[in-house]
Amino acid sequence: MEDVKGKVYFETYGCQMNFSDTELVAGILAKDHYEVVTDINDADLIFINTCSIRENAEQRVFSRLKHLRGMKRRKGKELVVGVMGCMAERLKTNLIEKEKLVDVVVGPDAYRDVPRLIQMAKLGEKGINTLLSLDETYENITPLRTEGISAWLTVMRGCDNFCTFCVVPFTRGRERSRPVESIVKEVELLSAEGRTKEITLLGQNVNSYSDSGKQFGALLEAVAAVDRSIRIRFATSHPKDFSDDVLLAIRNNENLCKYIHIPFQAGSTKVLADMNRTYTREEYLSLIDHMKTMIPGVSLSTDVMVGFPGETEADFEDTLDIMRRVKFDTAFMFKYSPREGTKAFKMGDNVPDEVKTDRLNRLIEVQERISFENNQKRIGNIETILIEGPAPRGVNFLRGKTDSNVACVFQAEPGMKPGDLVKVRITSGTGHTLKAEVLKDETVSI
Ligand code: SAH
Ligand code: SF4
Ligand code: F3S
Repeated sequence: MEDVKGKVYFETYGCQMNFSDTELVAGILAKDHYEVVTDINDADLIFINTCSIRENAEQRVFSRLKHLRGMKRRKGKELVVGVMGCMAERLKTNLIEKEKLVDVVVGPDAYRDVPRLIQMAKLGEKGINTLLSLDETYENITPLRTEGISAWLTVMRGCDNFCTFCVVPFTRGRERSRPVESIVKEVELLSAEGRTKEITLLGQNVNSYSDSGKQFGALLEAVAAVDRSIRIRFATSHPKDFSDDVLLAIRNNENLCKYIHIPFQAGSTKVLADMNRTYTREEYLSLIDHMKTMIPGVSLSTDVMVGFPGETEADFEDTLDIMRRVKFDTAFMFKYSPREGTKAFKMGDNVPDEVKTDRLNRLIEVQERISFENNQKRIGNIETILIEGPAPRGVNFLRGKTDSNVACVFQAEPGMKPGDLVKVRITSGTGHTLKAEVLKDETVSI
């Protein structure tokens, strides 16, 4: 065994795919004899995995980089600082010019090149690779997973949808799917290791997955069949591509969770058209009705934004109306943030910030009430919980998730541990968490 070449510390911002990518790069570096450390002070390599989705996501990274300046001053050339992810792709060499301390800039499709880029930085040069690829899926790379019982698994990369507000097609390039066979093989490995009890399949738009004629429904069936004791989730779904093969797969496979994250972004057909979302308000609502019919009790979550260019009060009322009709369990709600280079950027950011804030607050208020009401309706239900760990409050309490992805806490029984499935009866609930009592002597299936 070769000596350790260096100690690397990762800090990750952004979406689940970024967290998954960090594990990928950690895997690449571990294979190249680097050690991954969890204390930044032990590190001689720091990688920040960044997000560009909204202005404040980038601001957070800039202020973090400023913070690291002191550290870099103390350690000098001994410390290599790298920026990876979507900001690296978007800002490229500007990042180095703006942030003098950055030595490596590497975009989402160039992670195989990270060891070489580090070597360049160690020789006192800047290591930059922001080439996007048409076919990179990292299919033969084993990620270094550090999370407990849950694993992310990226099944496709990039996005071709070009929603007019979004940087992702620019930062992550064209859409491409990883072969079914390589995904199934990784799930088999995870199953054989025995630690993983939940796998989330990731892509910006999983419903357009396609590998030699196999669509996403077929992939779900194949993954679910590997190990029936592993729960399978997926994100994100785009309404335009959502077809029945996925709903049938969920219906026919107990270990595919009855939970769908299906962003709608805006409630008015005019705004949806300006966003290039390619569906109308009516089409979205009828898709949701169809899902609820096909999968009784399905849990839904969404992403939605306020203050898109030209959004009127009436448009916003349409958004509120969708929230009230669909009754999502969870919603991720954002103020529109103009991103340079996108089509919407040219439309002008013409909804004043006070109006955006007011709309966002009204949206949050409506959603909080709906989440609360949904959870009240769950009282008395029998649910299977996948235990994740100790509850944040309360001695001897555990926390976990229902199949529908709602957090649940309950009193621990002797012998219970993370990764176990346990049957409970829901006794109360707030907007965010359910409380439950354990049902003893129940046979537990997923
Ligand atoms: N691929 C996913 C989501 C990717 S980004 C999808 O299509 O739904 C996650 C969320 O960030 C988006 O759903 C959107 O609600 C939000 N978002 C994207 N660009 C944004 C912007 N410019 N301003 C505010 N929110 C944005
Ligand atoms: Fe962005 Fe739209 Fe692609 Fe989602 S589907 S990543 S919102 S362009
Ligand atoms: Fe952010 Fe890139 Fe994900 S912009 S949300 S890290 S795809």
